Amino acid sequence: MKVIQSAALLRESLQKERQYNRQIGFVPTMGALHDGHINLADRCVSENDISVVSIFVNPTQFNDKRDLDTYPRTLDTDCALLERAGCDYVFAPSVEEMYPVPDTRVFDFGRVSQVMEGAARPGHFNGVAQIVSKLFAAVEPINAYFGEKDFQQIAVVRELVKQLKLPVVIRSCPTLREADGLAMSSRNTRLNVEQRRKAPLIARTLKESTGLTAAKSVQEVINYVVDTVNSDPVMRVEYYEIVDEATLKPVHRWSDSDHIVGCITVFCGEVRLIDNIRYDNKTYANRNT
Ligand code: PAJ
Repeated sequence: MKVIQSAALLRESLQKERQYNRQIGFVPTMGALHDGHINLADRCVSENDISVVSIFVNPTQFNDKRDLDTYPRTLDTDCALLERAGCDYVFAPSVEEMYPVPDTRVFDFGRVSQVMEGAARPGHFNGVAQIVSKLFAAVEPINAYFGEKDFQQIAVVRELVKQLKLPVVIRSCPTLREADGLAMSSRNTRLNVEQRRKAPLIARTLKESTGLTAAKSVQEVINYVVDTVNSDPVMRVEYYEIVDEATLKPVHRWSDSDHIVGCITVFCGEVRLIDNIRYDNKTYANRNT
C-alpha cells in the first residue's frame, strides 16, 4: 500500500494503473477510521482492481472552528487498518495541497443542500462539494463509496456528480453500528463515559418509532422521537425530520412517499451526533394517518 501526499503524484500513479485497464474505486474519508469506514473500504476492494482511500480533514466543510480543531487525527493507525483491508493507495494531502488558493466556488444544489444539515450547518455542503470534486478530479474513480449514515451527503454528492457530469457511480452502503445500536462515528470517541452510555437512546428511539406508524401520524411520530430523546438531560435534539428519500421534502402523511427516511441530529453534551432510519410504509395499517 502506498501513502501519497501529492495530488500530482497520485494522478501519475493512477494513470499507470489505468494503462493496465485497472478499474479504480475510491472511498473519501476524514480519517479516525472505524468499522463503518473499513466496511466501505472492504466493499471498494472487493468491487474494484485498485482501491484508493483519502484521509483529509476538510476545513471548508466545518462551520465550527472548535469542531475542526478537535477532530481526531490518527493517520498511522488509519493506514495500518487500510493496509489490512487490502487498500492500494492512501491519499493523505495537506491543506495547502488541496487548497493552494482559496476555493471560491459556490454550488447550488437547491433543496437537498438547504434543508436539515444544510440549514443547521450553513456552508457545510458547499465545503463537501468543493473537496469531493477536487478528490474526484485527482482520483477519477469508476466507483465511489459513501455511507448512509450521512444520508443527506449522498444526495448532495449525487447532485454534484450530475451537475458536473462526472463519469463516477456513487455506491451507498448501510450504516454500521456498535453492539448497542449507536451509529459508528469518529466523533463517538469524544463522548465521555456517561454520554457514551446514554447515546444509544438515539438509535433505540428511532427503531422504536418505526413500530408506531400504524397508530400515529407523521407529526406524532416526530414528537415521540424528539420528546423521548430530549427526556434525557444529556441530550438535545437539534432537528428530527421525516422526509422523502429522493427529494428530501417533508412527508406529512405516511402515504406521501414509498421511500421515507427520518433524519436526526442530537447534541449529546457538546458532541453532535447524527443518525437516520427508514420507515417501511408497506407495513402501515392506516396509510392515511
Ligand atoms: P467521514 O465522516 O470520515 O466519513 C467518510 C465516509 O464514511 C462517509 O461516506 C460516511 O457516510 C461513511 N461513514 C461514517 N460513519 C459510518 C457508519 N457508521 N457506517 C457506514 N458508513 C459510515 O463524510 C465525510 O467523512 C466527509 O464529508 C467527506 C465525504 C470525506 C468529504 O470531506
